[in-house]
Amino acid sequence: MTLDPTALPADLAAAAAEVEAYLATWLDRRPLPENLRSAIAHVLLGGGKRVRPYLTLRACAAVGGDAKRAMAAAAAMEMVHTFSLVHDDLPAMDDAPLRRGRPTLHVRDSEAMALLAGDALLSLAFELLADRIDSGELSGSLCGELAAATNDMIAGQVYDTLPDFPPDTPPMARLETIHRNKTGALIRCACRMGAICGDASADSLASITAYAEAVGLMFQVVDDLLDVTQTTEQLGKVADRDADHGKLTYPALIGLEASRAEINRQAQTALDALAPLGPPGDPLRRLCGWLAVRTR
Ligand code: IPE
Ligand code: IPE
Ligand code: MG
Ligand code: MG
Ligand code: MG
Repeated sequence: MTLDPTALPADLAAAAAEVEAYLATWLDRRPLPENLRSAIAHVLLGGGKRVRPYLTLRACAAVGGDAKRAMAAAAAMEMVHTFSLVHDDLPAMDDAPLRRGRPTLHVRDSEAMALLAGDALLSLAFELLADRIDSGELSGSLCGELAAATNDMIAGQVYDTLPDFPPDTPPMARLETIHRNKTGALIRCACRMGAICGDASADSLASITAYAEAVGLMFQVVDDLLDVTQTTEQLGKVADRDADHGKLTYPALIGLEASRAEINRQAQTALDALAPLGPPGDPLRRLCGWLAVRTR
C-alpha cells in the first residue's frame, strides 16, 4: 500500500464526529449549571481537528485492539486538551481573542467562566474515565497516564510563560523542553492511552510511545511555523502572535527552512518507530504525513 503523505486521513472527519457525539452525550447526562454547560459546549463541541482522540482510537487499533474500547479515553483526552486551550488563551497567558474560529471563552463570557469551565473540563475528563471504563485496573492506569501527562503539560506552560531555566541552558534545550512538555506530553498520552486500551504488548507500547514523542514535538514545530505563515482566517486563531509575545519558537530560533527540516526529521523518526506494527499502523502513518504538512 502506498501512502499519500499530504492527504488528510479519510477517516478523520468520521472519527471526529463520533467523538463529538460521545462528548455531547456525556455532557448532557451530567448535571451542571446551565451557564457552565453552555460555556463548556462552546469550547468543546464544534471546531477542533480532534487529532488527539483520533490518535487514541487509531493507536488502539494499531496494537490489535478494538477502537471502541478506547472511545472513553479518546473523549477524556479531548476534554483535557480543550481545558489546556481555554486556559492558554486567558489574558494572563497568551491573551487570545479567537479559538477554533470562535471568540475565546473569556471574551464570550468572562474570565471567571473561562477559569471555571477549564477546571470543569479537567475534572470531567477523570470523572468520565472513572465512570465509563468497566475494569478498575484499566481505569486506574488511564487516570495515571492522563494525570501525569497533564502535569507535564502544565510544566510546559510554565516553561513557556514563566521560564526559570538555569542561565547556562542553551536556547535549543529550552525550546525542546518547552515543546515536549506543553504539547508533546498530551500527544504522547493520547497514543499511549489508546495502546493501553488495546492491551498492547510491551514492545508495541514502546513503538507507539516513540512514534508519539516524535509526532508530539513535530506538532508544536508545525504550530510555530503556521503562526508565521498562515492567516487568522485559515487558522481560526489569531496568526502572527508568537513574536509579539516574545515566545521562544522554532522559526524564531532557527528560521523557516531549518524548522521545516526539523519537521521532516521528526516525521521520519515517527514513521521508523511504527515499522514493527505493520499495516495496522497505516492510519497513524497517514496522520503523521498530514500533520507534517497541515495548514491549520
Ligand atoms: C493547538 O492544538 C494547541 C497546541 C498544542 C499547539 P490543535 O492545533 O490540535 O488545536 P485544535 O484542537 O485543532 O483546535
Ligand atoms: C499551546 O501552545 C500549548 C497548550 C495549549 C498547552 P500555543 O500557545 O502555541 O498554542 P496556540 O498557538 O495558542 O494554539
Ligand atoms: Mg501558549
Ligand atoms: Mg496560545
Ligand atoms: Mg501556537
